[in-house]
Amino acid sequence: MGIPFIDLKSQYKRIENEVRGGIEAVLEHGAYIMGPEIRELESELAGYSKVNHAVGCASGTDALVMALMALDVKPGDAVFTTPFTFMATAEAVALLGATPVFVDIDPVTYNIDPAALKKAIRKVHDEGKLRPKGVIAVDLFGVPADYDAIEPIAKNNGLFLIVDAAQSFGAVYKGRPVCSIGDIACTSFFPAKPLGCYGDGGMVFTDDETLDGLLRSVRVHGQGTDKYDNVRLGINGRLDSMQAAVLKAKFAIFPEEVELRNEVADRYREVLAGVENLVTPTVPEGCTSVWAQYSVLARDAEHRAELQAKLQEAGIPSAIYYPLPLHLQQAFAYLGYSKGDLPVCEGIGERIFALPMHPYLKAEDQQAIAEALAG
Ligand SMILES: Cc1ncc(COP(=O)(O)O)c(C=O)c1O
Repeated sequence: MGIPFIDLKSQYKRIENEVRGGIEAVLEHGAYIMGPEIRELESELAGYSKVNHAVGCASGTDALVMALMALDVKPGDAVFTTPFTFMATAEAVALLGATPVFVDIDPVTYNIDPAALKKAIRKVHDEGKLRPKGVIAVDLFGVPADYDAIEPIAKNNGLFLIVDAAQSFGAVYKGRPVCSIGDIACTSFFPAKPLGCYGDGGMVFTDDETLDGLLRSVRVHGQGTDKYDNVRLGINGRLDSMQAAVLKAKFAIFPEEVELRNEVADRYREVLAGVENLVTPTVPEGCTSVWAQYSVLARDAEHRAELQAKLQEAGIPSAIYYPLPLHLQQAFAYLGYSKGDLPVCEGIGERIFALPMHPYLKAEDQQAIAEALAG
């Protein structure tokens, strides 16, 4: 057996009875959509995230679309975000007819650079073509963005703040769970995420009662008093009861798994210290990560190819997040960005690659990974 990139099987073996019991309960009561598991999960995860409201939904992508719809994002609006993220972050903005404005990243955390954000807002303001409307910060790989800097920038410019916590549910920024930050926070329960289900799923978090009402309405086709009273446009964005049952079983061991992920990350830092020209990740002071990915930096693109080849030879999987930043993707060609526009992000994109990361990664496997890289 080789080293898996993510080990969902070991996790399943630990909680098999609880998962099966949860799914069987859904089969018995038959409320496959919006069954009691949804509210129970929403309440558990809201409590864990120290936030008033949580709204389960069908994916992390739908979480972002619902958040943007609840915040009334429209054509002509500019929403500032990072180009170094998964497609969904900016896609959600564009699907609503608004314009994603890409802002370069911090070279250490790979998250949106607050100084560049300030400049980008000023530029859009001065050009006068788009209305600056909001910011979507992404906690890439599970590391929180720089909220002490981002929050006042958003506030002073009258912009909303959405936290894309698809990769960071469970992470903490200076004592604050990341899903309690911003006007709305969104997460994903895609199976490979730190808290994942056995299909697609997501959740939206807010402290604001009005936004909670809007999110619940948008989740079911803009429903008013019932689903055949449609007071606004919405989507079919519901989380199903079976996925909620799976998540409830997984959530019971999630805090322990976050600790295990941090132990794995600590061990990586130790064993990789001897690999020349390899930069291991940094978690800013006062923050914790949930290590959705353990991404390291090679010296340059050639060095990365060499290191990935060494891993492959040893039967160890690795992956690149993300091979092409969003501002250079064909889908966003209409925005008119060119290579060289966001140099920090483009440079990191040529050097970064991710190593196997999951709570059950053994010390000897990590040693073998370090030896393959150093060999
Ligand atoms: C940063 C980020 N945002 C949004 C998403 C979208 O989540 P989903 O795949 O559940 O739609 C992902 C998932 O990969 C993500 O990593």
